[in-house]
Amino acid sequence: MSVNYKVEWPMNLHAPAGSLEAKQAAVDNGLDVPDPSRYSSADYMKTEWEQLWPRVWLLAGVTPDLPESGDYHVFEIGHEEILLVRQDDASIKAFYNVCPHRGNRISLNDRGSVGKFTCAFHGWQFACDGTLLKITDEDTFDPRLIAHRPSLSEVRCDIIGGLIFVNMDGKAPPLREWIGLPPGYIENYEIDKMNVVRHVRSEWRANWKTGIDAFYETYHLPFIHPQTQGVMEDFSQYDLYPNGFSRMIVPIGVKSHRVGDQISVDPYQQFMMQEAGIDPTKFSGTAREVRVAIQQAKRSRGKRFGLEYYDKLTDAQLTDSWATGYFPNVQIGMHPEGVFIMRFLPHATDPERFYYDNMTMFRYVEDPGYTVPGWMGLPAGMDVTGATRPEIERVPVDVRPNLGEVLDQDVELVAAVQRGSKSRGFRGPLWSDQEQRVRHFHRELDRYINREK
Ligand code: FES
Ligand SMILES: [Fe+2]
Repeated sequence: MSVNYKVEWPMNLHAPAGSLEAKQAAVDNGLDVPDPSRYSSADYMKTEWEQLWPRVWLLAGVTPDLPESGDYHVFEIGHEEILLVRQDDASIKAFYNVCPHRGNRISLNDRGSVGKFTCAFHGWQFACDGTLLKITDEDTFDPRLIAHRPSLSEVRCDIIGGLIFVNMDGKAPPLREWIGLPPGYIENYEIDKMNVVRHVRSEWRANWKTGIDAFYETYHLPFIHPQTQGVMEDFSQYDLYPNGFSRMIVPIGVKSHRVGDQISVDPYQQFMMQEAGIDPTKFSGTAREVRVAIQQAKRSRGKRFGLEYYDKLTDAQLTDSWATGYFPNVQIGMHPEGVFIMRFLPHATDPERFYYDNMTMFRYVEDPGYTVPGWMGLPAGMDVTGATRPEIERVPVDVRPNLGEVLDQDVELVAAVQRGSKSRGFRGPLWSDQEQRVRHFHRELDRYINREK
């Protein structure tokens, strides 16, 4: 592979300090090499269930999934299920999905819309705000047993920019303080005005952290995903934020600096130009100039369609992916047309399984000239208008999730890394600067596991 280091890095190194795209100050996370047993040990998993999952804010859903009062959906993590319910005053409340009578699940569906919740076991009823409405044959209960009027058990819940978070033990700092990202960072994309157009939950043969690690760097792109070289820079801008949060800016629309020919336009670059409304046969620039041409085309298209939120996004944001890590288990690929939410959900009992949960969200614009971008990899014929919320496609382990070529390559990679992590010959991961987000994530995880937080 020839390496062409003379190519100018496409990132905005002169972004004003304090701006959202500015390179963040370095963080010294040391050089510790963690014991690889964290990727497979049942004890470590048990500690995570005690010290991590209940204590962090978890991304449980998105507001466009609950448009009307009485709309609800269920967030599952391990043994827990949490109901998110839109209230009459438009706020959202969260409850454990469990009946206080005998512990039946209140909702047996992923989602729905109700005037009140009725438990299927003995018919107890609860209002959408969780209060007890009716106990069947109440006079057969000793009044002392039900004097507290058992209601649904509430979970702390808060929202930023359309993203709904819950905190199970209720002791975390307020969400705005806890989210390590500056104000505007999330909100500028207006996720609350996008719709989930595809939701796939596939089960992978790996620890959830093996999954995270693989998605937190683009260092592996030339080797695992060589087909991205014609349209994506793999030498990303990596930024670390407080509380384990991080970002990588992945420039899209450019060839990797490792490609010798920076003149001729790659077929996938042509495809991207077409998507942005540029006729590639009339484009006379070089491969290096495609990204800026796409940015300009998108800028004017945003104005044409009255998409005012584009004004809050920089030119670079119009083409690039701001892949943003929300500690502990979420990465969101943020783009102006939509976002790709990946949640790495731990398996309830097996430390060597996780669920790769993807929600593809799209901002629908009613115009044939504004189409779903190719990076979303949506199968043909899907409804992208937001009129129907797709069901979760649950993909069992060892079945290809059909998420596109790149993610299929990751499924195999991640399983192989998981197997290798248990070898007696492996002493633990050695992380470079290009893997600084991985180190930052594990360092924060250590703080929870060691009760420093
Ligand atoms: S368990 Fe819900 S009414 Fe009995
Ligand atoms: Fe990958």
